[in-house]
Amino acid sequence: MTAAPQAPTDHRLRPVEEITPPEILAELRHGVLGQDPALRYVSVAIYKHASGRVSGNLLLIGNSGTGKTTIINNIQRLYREVPEYHPLRVMTIINANLLVDSDRMEFRPERLFGALEQRARAVIGHEPTAAELKDVMERATICIDEVDKMSGIIAGKPNALGVVLQQGLLTLMEGDIVPFTAHVVEDGRECSRPIELDTSGMMFICAGAFEGLWDQVYLRVTTPGSGEKLKSTAIRTADGQVRIETRFALGDYFKIEDLFIFGMVPQFTARFDNVVLLSDLGVDVLREILLKSVDSPFVRSRQYFKVMGIELEIEDLAASLIAEQAEKHSRTGARALRTIFGRIVNPLEYDPSAYGELTTLPDGRRRLAVTASQVRQTLGL
Ligand SMILES: Nc1ncnc2c1ncn2[C@@H]1O[C@H](COP(=O)(O)OP(=O)(O)OP(=O)(O)O)[C@@H](O)[C@H]1O
Ligand SMILES: [Mg+2]
Repeated sequence: MTAAPQAPTDHRLRPVEEITPPEILAELRHGVLGQDPALRYVSVAIYKHASGRVSGNLLLIGNSGTGKTTIINNIQRLYREVPEYHPLRVMTIINANLLVDSDRMEFRPERLFGALEQRARAVIGHEPTAAELKDVMERATICIDEVDKMSGIIAGKPNALGVVLQQGLLTLMEGDIVPFTAHVVEDGRECSRPIELDTSGMMFICAGAFEGLWDQVYLRVTTPGSGEKLKSTAIRTADGQVRIETRFALGDYFKIEDLFIFGMVPQFTARFDNVVLLSDLGVDVLREILLKSVDSPFVRSRQYFKVMGIELEIEDLAASLIAEQAEKHSRTGARALRTIFGRIVNPLEYDPSAYGELTTLPDGRRRLAVTASQVRQTLGL
């Protein structure tokens, strides 16, 4: 195996344990919009982990397309791209279903530790000794996505595999000594060495949409005699009208017991320092994601046109109309932006003069605008 070159140590860098939660939040906000309350929990958890305190394990719950995977990806981006966070770079993201063997009904954490070992090697930068590997892996961040798919109850029936996964994970999360076979080079020869990994210094972030949870809590709240009441809010539309909507936000009513009914093992949920609920994304946030987020379909399209020497712009009202339509597809969250914007921009990507909006400026630059009328025409508004 070829070792990755090791980054030179920059002694002007601040030690990672001195970076404060607000600074971490500021970094994460570049890629994750409209989820500041959730990001605060994430920032504190990273801070505790970085400063070697007991790690703050988190469970992120949020509707599809509200940013759970985006948060995890942005933690990874932070660790990789910002030099001060390099000591934390050993991180792995894995889907929950990959950690269980359905034939044998067994928890199989080797995949997780195998992926961690690969990351640890890249970070160490040379063929590591067993001690070096152990040292770096024990400080890892482990993200387990789609954890809700491993519920103990699926479609009303017991799901033993989900219970196996949750029990396996809870043991790791409370701090366990796990035997692991590392591949190291000793005296110039590759060999396998058994090492014992202490998981108590690792940080665990689990995430899931918990789709049925919304309906389940909604039912509990709206059942006559529950003693709870839905809240109404005034909404202003892009066209300036005001209407009153009754909205259900899980965060207003959620109790940890709702997770047990959903099928999560109580001892598993007890291993998280915080259960963090992501917000549904409103029109304003969706608009901001469309215009500003690193990964937005508009920003990507701009880059596409830039290569062709064309400056892509979007009218304010056009962006608001797209955001408003995306919000109506609340089941897919910000993903709807991609679908809707794609329908509008695809004819332009095929032929920039499709809607007759391609203009040449006096200095020779070409400019293309996405207008409100194109949006209305394409979406039949
Ligand atoms: N809060 C957000 N800030 C910026 N972009 C977001 C946000 N939420 C979603 N997106 C965008 O929407 C897309 C889908 O988001 P993401 O993958 O994070 O959803 P998710 O919450 O993990 O959903 P699922 O439960 O379906 O996995 C991403 O490409 C991302 O660019
Ligand atoms: Mg996801």
